[in-house]
Amino acid sequence: MSSNAHTPVLLGPVLEGLHIKANGCYVDGTFGRGGHSSAILERLSADGRLIAIDRDPQAIASAPEALLADPRFELIRGECAQLEKFIEERDLVGRVDGVLLDLGVSSPQLDEAGRGFSFLRDGPLDMRMDPDAGISAADWLARVDEKELKRILKIYGEERNAARIARAIVSAREDAPIRRTGQLAKVIADAAPSHGDRIHPATRSFQAIRIVINDELEQLRAVLGQIVNVLRQGGRLCIISFHSLEDRLVKRFIREASREPEQYRGMPSVPPEYRPKLKPIGKLIEATAEEIAANRRARSARLRVAERL
Ligand SMILES: C[S@@+](CC[C@H](N)C(=O)[O-])C[C@H]1O[C@@H](n2cnc3c(N)ncnc32)[C@H](O)[C@@H]1O
Repeated sequence: MSSNAHTPVLLGPVLEGLHIKANGCYVDGTFGRGGHSSAILERLSADGRLIAIDRDPQAIASAPEALLADPRFELIRGECAQLEKFIEERDLVGRVDGVLLDLGVSSPQLDEAGRGFSFLRDGPLDMRMDPDAGISAADWLARVDEKELKRILKIYGEERNAARIARAIVSAREDAPIRRTGQLAKVIADAAPSHGDRIHPATRSFQAIRIVINDELEQLRAVLGQIVNVLRQGGRLCIISFHSLEDRLVKRFIREASREPEQYRGMPSVPPEYRPKLKPIGKLIEATAEEIAANRRARSARLRVAERL
């Protein structure tokens, strides 16, 4: 597969979950290489509309000409945390039929050493989805204090060797700045070698640092707070997450939005603003063994679907 390719995960369940209406208006908040977007567009008539968003300029630059020339399609470079603003600017608040979020990094981001996401390919330690925003992982690691680093590795990476790894990073940077992914991967692997784990010893730490650098959980919290407003009644949301922190946020959000606040539960009449806003559709969806065999990224994908009431 070329380094510019990205196989969309859970494509069938996403299309089913979005319950696509041919003349509907859809938002793909994480365009990537447009796998899901192209499949959604194929199901829309001439009156349908698809607005896609990505914060990564390379994702925007890689969008195929044919897609960009399609009058039903629009691609926005930006953060999905700005969803409501983008939708408001287009006068579509409360008129969106479906929102898809396929969170995390794309295969091209991971595969290209120059983006600095990969512990397997040596490159500059960057990790920004939008290289024009925020600070690089190298700059962050140069400044973060040991206690905070340990906390981040533990919480965002669920890394049980967080203390040992944080200590090793701080001690290594006293000798020389950590500017390369290979350098960081080695410091981590030396500090906490894997003992029969199936994953590389740096997997969890790289995930944790990436989440911080891209403010991923805050982005998710922000967009979740806006989705209900942009959807029309009967509109669907489909969210694919790739680690338990994200999935927990999504699961809780759907659960909370699907019931009245505690003080109104069991009351005969609930003021409209406190009535449930969402209805979960089906249960958590994961990839089949067949999909995982064909696409390893699918192994940790978790899809949740809900409908606007
Ligand atoms: C897993 S990929 C999406 C792949 C896409 N569904 C496809 O089929 O090609 C995630 C994409 O979302 C983008 N992304 C992640 N978080 C984002 C955010 N908060 N705002 C905008 N784009 C984001 C990343 O830059 C990446 O291109």
